[in-house]
This record gives sequence, C-alpha cells and structure tokens, in this order.
Amino acid sequence: MSRSAHPAGPRHADVLPEGHYTAPPADLNTLDPKVWARTVDRDEQGVATIGGLRVTDLAEEFGTPAYFLDETDFRTRCRAWADAFGPDADVFYAGKAFLSRAIVRWLHEEGLNLDVCSGGELATALSAGMPAERIAFHGNNKSEAEIRRAVEAGVGRIVLDSFQEIVRVAHIAQSLGKRQRVQIRVTVGVEAHTHEFIATAHEDQKFGIALAGGQAAEAVRRALQLDGLELIGIHSHIGSQIFDMAGFEVSARRVVQLLAEVRDEHGVELPEIDLGGGLGIAYTSEDDPREPHEIAKALSEIVTRECESAGLRTPRISVEPGRAIVGPTAFTLYRVGTIKPLDGLRTYVSVDGGMSDNIRTALYDAEYSVSLVSRVSDAEPMLSRVVGKHCESGDIVVRDAFLPADLAPGDLIAVPATGAYCRSMASNYNHALRPPVVAVRDGEARVIVRRETEEDLLRLDVG
Ligand SMILES: Cc1ncc(COP(=O)(O)O)c(C=O)c1O
Repeated sequence: MSRSAHPAGPRHADVLPEGHYTAPPADLNTLDPKVWARTVDRDEQGVATIGGLRVTDLAEEFGTPAYFLDETDFRTRCRAWADAFGPDADVFYAGKAFLSRAIVRWLHEEGLNLDVCSGGELATALSAGMPAERIAFHGNNKSEAEIRRAVEAGVGRIVLDSFQEIVRVAHIAQSLGKRQRVQIRVTVGVEAHTHEFIATAHEDQKFGIALAGGQAAEAVRRALQLDGLELIGIHSHIGSQIFDMAGFEVSARRVVQLLAEVRDEHGVELPEIDLGGGLGIAYTSEDDPREPHEIAKALSEIVTRECESAGLRTPRISVEPGRAIVGPTAFTLYRVGTIKPLDGLRTYVSVDGGMSDNIRTALYDAEYSVSLVSRVSDAEPMLSRVVGKHCESGDIVVRDAFLPADLAPGDLIAVPATGAYCRSMASNYNHALRPPVVAVRDGEARVIVRRETEEDLLRLDVG
C-alpha cells in the first residue's frame, strides 16, 4: 500500500484503512436530498442554505455547534404521516426523538398525537397545550407521581409495561375516581433493526410483557378484572431504524393472535393495536427509507389480512414514528478547529461539539454523512473522521466520510439527519454547553431551544 505525502492527509485512492465507507461520491459538493432537510440547497456562491438562509450567516448569528431544524419539512412530514394513515388510524409522534414546546405546538396544529415517556416530556406536552386525550404515556418504570399526574391530566392512554404497573395504574385511577384507558405493551419475540429482523422464542430485554409462556394473556386477564382500567388494546414496538416490513408483519400477526385469544377467553374484541415506531431514515445516501403511504398501506394490509383470517373486526391501528418525522429535518452545524492527517490512515477533523451533542455514533456505531457547507471545493476527496472536543477517544461524530482535501480550520461542516436522538440525548460531558435548536422557516430563523450558558450549569451546582 502506498502512502500519500500530501500535507492534507491520505487520499482514498492510495490508502484504504478499515472502515465503513464506500467510494467517495462523484461530487462532494452535492447535498443529497435523501439525507438533507427539504429546504436545504446551495446559493450561487456555493454556501449551503436552509429555508433560504445561508449557513455562514446562521453561524454568525447563533454560533456553533447548533442544530438547525427545517420547520417546513417537519410540518410536511407530519401531514404526510397523518394523511397516509387517514382518519381511521392514529399517528403518535414519539417525543423521545426530540421534544420542545414549539414541536408540541406544530404537532397539535398538524393533527398528530404525542407519545411521552417521562414526567418531563408530559410536562412539556401539557405546558405547550397538547390536549391530554391526545397523549400516550409510556415507560417501563413510571413512578407513582408520574402515573398520578398522567391520570389526573386525563391522558388518552397509558401503555402498561409490567404486572406491577397494571396494579399501580388501576389503584391510582381508582383513588382519583377515574377509569384509565390503557394498552398492554407486549414483546412479540421480534427484534428488527435496519434491513434485518430476528424472530425469537422470547426476548431478553426490559420492555413489555412477553407473549411467550402466556404472560401477555395473563396480563390481559388481570387488566380486565380491575375497575380502574379500561383496556383498549395491545401495543408492540420491535426496534429502530427499520426498513424491512417483515418484522412488522410477524409482530402484527402475533398481536392479532393475542386479540383472537382474548376474544375466545373473555368474549371481548379489543378495539386498538399499536405497532410502535422504529421506521428508518436515510443517514447516508446508501439508505432507502420507505414513504409514509407505503408504510401505512403495508401495515393496514397486514392487520386486515390477519384479522380476516382470525375472524376479528379490524382494530384501529396506531403507530409511533419519532425518528422518521424529525430525524431528516435537522442538521448540526460545526466549525472545524483542528485537522490532523494520520499518514496511511485517515484525517481527523476536530469540531467544536462532539459526543455531547451526538452520542449515537459512540453509543451504537451509528453512521452519518458530513459535508463542507460554508463553500464548495474542487479539491480531491480526503478520507476523514469527524471527532469532537471531548476527553474520550471514542468521541466520534462521523466515523468514515470524505471531505475535500483543502478543508481548513474555520470552515463550517454540517452533519445531516440529526433531528432525532441528538439534542434529546445531549449531555453536559466536560461541562459542554448543550447547543441551541434553531427553527428555520421561509427565510426566518428563531431559537426554539436556547444554547445553555455557564450560568445554567452553575445554577445546578449548589455545593
Ligand atoms: C415504544 C416506542 N415507540 C416509539 C419509539 C420511536 O421510535 P423511532 O424514533 O425509531 O420511530 C420508540 C423508540 O425507542 C419506542 O420505544
């Protein structure tokens, strides 16, 4: 293997260190619409824009690192999901992907429901005016205080995740003189991620109550006996970043089988099933996500077919996409600080953020793409690793990507598809100040979550 002597670092053509990358794209300046928010483009000078605003101006006004979220794209995706599923189904946006009060208002305006899984998410939803009956409350270990608050607020459903919780929710509802609508979350023995799914006899994980061994049927039995509960359906969530509908097919079949058993044993046809979230998005140009109308059609066909063969009325379906709605609508804008070419390996590009604003790469080896956005470049591609400024060698934002070889400190680079599970999982590691989320729409930008300040950090430090 020959080595590049170029000061900007190794080139793809003469070194091929190990990594998850394919050949560099034909044109590094192209911003692939598959991975970038819909209003992202480049202006005549080659500066990337979002909603008509130049990233160079945005960096000046809001600083870096920062998340820029395309409000138009977010609303369009909400409408696409709502339209695809229609009036006979319910779309719950999974707030864990990213939640703020502005997001709650947009969801409300676009007719979506909301799935929350903590007291904090519930408080955010209620404070921004989401009607409680349009909220589903999730979680594998909800506290009594959280349950009480949810029941008092009148949430549309609580998704029960354990035998203890069946009793806990029933008691709290009864003590408040209410009958709480609930679903039971079951584990169907399917685990799906991206293009693969595995169907197993039972699952070794913390969520839900297993169908295997009759546990889910027992949970239904208990829930039906308790006055404080109105059991409206069964819930299943099988994984994340899924492209292949086969896992949903197995999941739906097993859930419908449980509905048939419930009918046979109790004479009750539960009216709803929730097939969870987990639909994949494009993080790189190699990913090919499905459109909401394809997903809606596939899910409704599967459920209808399974119900027909079990002699059941088709239940109302709900889904809980988080990533598929917010993920593609944002990018993280970073400024390049240092550039270290490692001869024969790759070039390390350090930015002013890192694992504190995007933990996904360190946490589960997530793949991302990255582009130079403050200008275009004709320089040849340079195999790069984009890293942060934290005290961990695993502080990697983009493991393998090509950036132009003339990249220089001060350039702005951006990582697309960071709308989901980035700001919501952000941390203060090394006392980093969590970046702002700036919403952009029709040539206007406004902060919806402000940047943390040192005062914010010190306010909590009361020792
Ligand atoms: C129960 C449930 N619903 C929905 C989601 C959202 O998943 P995604 O953002 O991948 O669509 C999750 C994610 O973990 C989940 O656990």
